[in-house]
Amino acid sequence: MAALGAAGCGAVGRVTQGDASHGKQLFLDPKTQCASCHTFADAKSQGAVGPNLDDAFSSDKSQGFSEQTIRDVVRGQIAYPEQPMPANLVRGQDASDLATYIAKCTGNPNCGVTASKSAPAGGSGGSAAGGGTTTTAQGGGSAAPDGKAIFTSAGCSGCHTLKDAGAKGNVGPNLDQLKPAKARVAHQVEVGGGAMPAFKGQLSDAQIQAVAGYVSSVAGK
Ligand code: HEC
Ligand code: HEC
Repeated sequence: MAALGAAGCGAVGRVTQGDASHGKQLFLDPKTQCASCHTFADAKSQGAVGPNLDDAFSSDKSQGFSEQTIRDVVRGQIAYPEQPMPANLVRGQDASDLATYIAKCTGNPNCGVTASKSAPAGGSGGSAAGGGTTTTAQGGGSAAPDGKAIFTSAGCSGCHTLKDAGAKGNVGPNLDQLKPAKARVAHQVEVGGGAMPAFKGQLSDAQIQAVAGYVSSVAGK
């Protein structure tokens, strides 16, 4: 319960209002990296660097802490995290929106929140991502899976550096330097190895091919 204490002393105010759909969009945005470090069922993210955000608050919820309390805890955590979570990944109203989303959906993947738009390749307002528009998450139901979105949501970016995805992980090799071919990526993702988990079973074959194609096409660019 260290996080509860941390929330009480912060200079950030209480979260008075927040937009959960915008929060979900931010959670999935490759720029915030939340999804790459955290597992959160509603967002279908499987990051394993930080704690599972469904489990993190389940006891709080069962002890009757209100959604408001959880919002404030999350808001405090975003502003004053412990290492290795970077501080102030989002600020101001964005942070309140994210906190609202997590408080609403923690432990409840059927909370009914839809991201206000799919994780944008360019992000909001920043020019940092440059030419990252190789894929768009939007589109018809039968479109090929979005390799870039999978890279973030499956947790790859928590462990690997890949400039196009805004990923700065350093548990595994820097993929911009490695420049692996598609087949090499697909094989590694299927079977894992070293400290890397196998994703077969978690990701479909089509998703593995999509993320492998994505990595091999952008690495080193
Ligand atoms: C580089 C990986 C990383 C990123 C990116 C990251 N986190 Fe974390 N997060 C962690 C780690 C590690 C912890 C545990 C730190 C600690 O011991 O307090 C944590 C803790 C938390 C907690 C507290 C959970 C608890 O058990 O009380 C919340 C809430 C949280 N993160 C939300 C977020 C949100 C929202 C984002 C995106 C804005 C984010 N995190 C981005 C790694 C990350
Ligand atoms: C928990 C951390 C972690 C996660 C998550 C992770 N990796 Fe890795 N990855 C590693 C480590 C560590 C290695 C080095 C393994 C070794 O030395 O055998 C590695 C190696 C690789 C390699 C190099 C394989 C080779 O032939 O040298 C590729 C490509 C790769 N990962 C891609 C991915 C992709 C794509 C994802 C997401 C689906 C991912 N990784 C998720 C930690 C991770």
